[in-house]
Amino acid sequence: MTGKVHATLDSILGQALSAIDQTADSRQLEKTRVEFLGRHGSVTAQLKSIGSLPLGDRKAFGQAVNRARDQISGALVKKGEALAARKQLSDAQKDRIDVTLPGRRGFLGGVHPITRTVRRIERIFQRAGFDVTHGPEIEDDFHNFEALNIPKDHPARAMHDTFYISPGVVLRTHTSPVQIRYLECHQPPLQIIAPGRVYRCDSDVTHTPMFHQVEGLAVDTDISFADLKGTLTFFLQEFFEQQLPVRFRPSFFPFTEPSAEVDMGCVFCDGRGCRICQQTGWLEVLGCGMVHPQVFHQVGIDNEQFTGYAFGLGIERLAMLRYGVDDLRLFFENEVAFLSQFS
Ligand code: FA5
Ligand code: MG
Repeated sequence: MTGKVHATLDSILGQALSAIDQTADSRQLEKTRVEFLGRHGSVTAQLKSIGSLPLGDRKAFGQAVNRARDQISGALVKKGEALAARKQLSDAQKDRIDVTLPGRRGFLGGVHPITRTVRRIERIFQRAGFDVTHGPEIEDDFHNFEALNIPKDHPARAMHDTFYISPGVVLRTHTSPVQIRYLECHQPPLQIIAPGRVYRCDSDVTHTPMFHQVEGLAVDTDISFADLKGTLTFFLQEFFEQQLPVRFRPSFFPFTEPSAEVDMGCVFCDGRGCRICQQTGWLEVLGCGMVHPQVFHQVGIDNEQFTGYAFGLGIERLAMLRYGVDDLRLFFENEVAFLSQFS
């Protein structure tokens, strides 16, 4: 009888030790502990069975069970430590930093394509002897309209889709008021350009409610339409660095006479006609003309002695043609994927 219980205990001990030895992770180890030493474990069952042994055998068997339990506990602790150490090592290997790998580049922003285009335009005109000047974006009715020969009831006002701040105060609809502001405090001869933001209630693939223009103005004693044409042709050639078809088309502005608009051959359809050029094959990029005598009169310049030309370039239109951007609104949605193509 006693021999048999000792043999069973030995066999449980053997099973426990080999199970612990084969355990590969701490969860499995805990399961093994419960299986042998838990409340319903097989070693615990042996302890409970002591009561059924003859009195004389109980002590020796009890001690044997305790020894077996201590041995198993010891093996569990040792294995637990070994597993923890192994996990630590493998975690460390996973997180290892390989200092020999090439580094990741930081994210670098770039200049916005419109800013880039403005700077390009400024450089070209500066080379041709123009000064760069600026005017306010919030304008009064006098500078935006009146002084440019656009009186209150003039139909040209309807073309401008003006944003009013208050009666008589507007977001400038074009950069032409800078002509007036400059002439109010400078004497000819002069050659200036004035880039900046302008605003109109307008939105589609070639129009945005806020856009940029560059105003140009040259006043001297012998300025003719040929000078205007020469300057603009020079500029467009320098700007595009390629021969795009250009046409001067007669037009009307109250502040120039004669007046023209300049169209460029549409780069999106090679002039065949598409959605962007509204099937015309041409895209309007600027308005221009000879300064109207009425404008000189407003600022006190003698129009017998002086003549001048003026022009207003649409910067987004030039940028869309140069960079092949087929929707002008993309410039202002500021998607990083779009903008990063220009940096
Ligand atoms: C003018 O604004 C005149 N002040 C130009 C001018 C200046 C004429 C000096 C004579 C002398 P216009 O409304 O056509 O003209 O606009 C000029 C250019 O701005 C257009 O050719 C076009 O390239 C651009 N443009 C006009 N509206 C928009 C818009 N909503 N979005 C983007 N570009 C525009
Ligand atoms: Mg126009």
